[in-house]
Amino acid sequence: MKFITQPGGHLRGSIDIPGDKSISHRAVMLGSLADGTTRVSNLLTGTDVLATVDAFRELGVTIERPSEGDMIIHGVGLHGLQEPNKALDLGNSGTSIRLLSGILAGQAFDSQLSGDDSLCKRPMRRILDPLKTMGAVIEGQEDGTPPINVHGGQALQGINYKMPMASAQVKSCLLFAGMYAAGETAITEPGVTRDHSERMLEAFGYPVKHCGPQVRIKGGGSLTATDIKVPGDISSAAFFMVGACIAKNSELILNNVGLNPTRLGVINILRIMGANLEIIEERFNGHEPVADIRIRSSQLRGVDIPLEQVPLAIDEFPALFIAAACAEGVTVLRGAEELRVKESDRIRSMANGLRAIGITCKSRPDGIIIQGGQIEGGEVNSFGDHRVAMAFAMASLASEQPIQIENCANVATSFPDFVNISRGVGLRIDTKHEALHEQ
Ligand code: S3P
Repeated sequence: MKFITQPGGHLRGSIDIPGDKSISHRAVMLGSLADGTTRVSNLLTGTDVLATVDAFRELGVTIERPSEGDMIIHGVGLHGLQEPNKALDLGNSGTSIRLLSGILAGQAFDSQLSGDDSLCKRPMRRILDPLKTMGAVIEGQEDGTPPINVHGGQALQGINYKMPMASAQVKSCLLFAGMYAAGETAITEPGVTRDHSERMLEAFGYPVKHCGPQVRIKGGGSLTATDIKVPGDISSAAFFMVGACIAKNSELILNNVGLNPTRLGVINILRIMGANLEIIEERFNGHEPVADIRIRSSQLRGVDIPLEQVPLAIDEFPALFIAAACAEGVTVLRGAEELRVKESDRIRSMANGLRAIGITCKSRPDGIIIQGGQIEGGEVNSFGDHRVAMAFAMASLASEQPIQIENCANVATSFPDFVNISRGVGLRIDTKHEALHEQ
């Protein structure tokens, strides 16, 4: 599927931002492992989260979907999962495979986890190595990629682990395995990463201790079902924040955006760049803060992105690179080598696309240097990466010519209604489905 965008236009109106992907995964996982029935509202129904839902159904959990964003999860308790009849297919979803590996490492049965071509290229040693130290018998392929095989029935032991990279997926995988381990599991992170797992464990009544960069959990507890209202995803909101900044005569209100402090990098960085952005009516949605955001056309300037903001904005760099392309001056990003192991190598995919639409940039092993300029338009490949596709769709707002973006079907992993919602506020976007090849 291709996106074909026409140049110019402005963004006006308001958007209800769809549910947060990270929180949706965790709600399905902990709801499944809880005692009792958990009702989730505003759950993201992107294909990544549906892969998690399907996996838990395969593991014997009954999950009802009475309407689009509502799910009723009949929890089976921490020890109630059943052996699956087939390998679990986690599609494109790194969060599903990494967090589930931690849970499955603690089960009495064997299991196998796999996914699509992109997922089967992503590094898993970051979870396999510490899980093995805990006593799990778990293997990926020789190069550390999926499929992953778990040999169940092991007695896990808590560990004290210093993560070599800032990764919420690794931290969450080990916290979830820690519920099944004897003693305490302590995880120290080198930089602040999203803390949705910790907040959700607490919402389900499972104690977690925080001590600066360290988080600790004791095995042998239980989860009590609760109702979860998922906040809007700041990562989806980010495209519209950037779009409204770079388009002329624009003013957007983004409703109900999750404002967890560990996810605020995109707002902090856009503000340093000069964005006209207001946070309205901050409030609490269960264990997570939310607010509405007003954002208007802005004169952006290039910046050196502060290193400490990198893990707080890790999923928003494709959108931020488009902001940098429209800014006056140079933007420099360092310390972001993790972008190379996302759904695509995002430094490479974005650098290729930026050059294709007339922007000068230089990639580095751990970042990129972008010279702000005039977007000319052209043809871009998203490399099947949802966030790359949506970022270049927004670039059309400041382009001279149309932008055609190839390989956009995976936008459905995180933002299934992206095209309709963005059209509704003024983005000139159409889709074109590739003709099927004749056999
Ligand atoms: C996520 C953590 C981040 C992020 C991903 C979702 C999560 O990955 O990029 O989209 O839900 O825990 P890393 O843990 O690899 O940084």
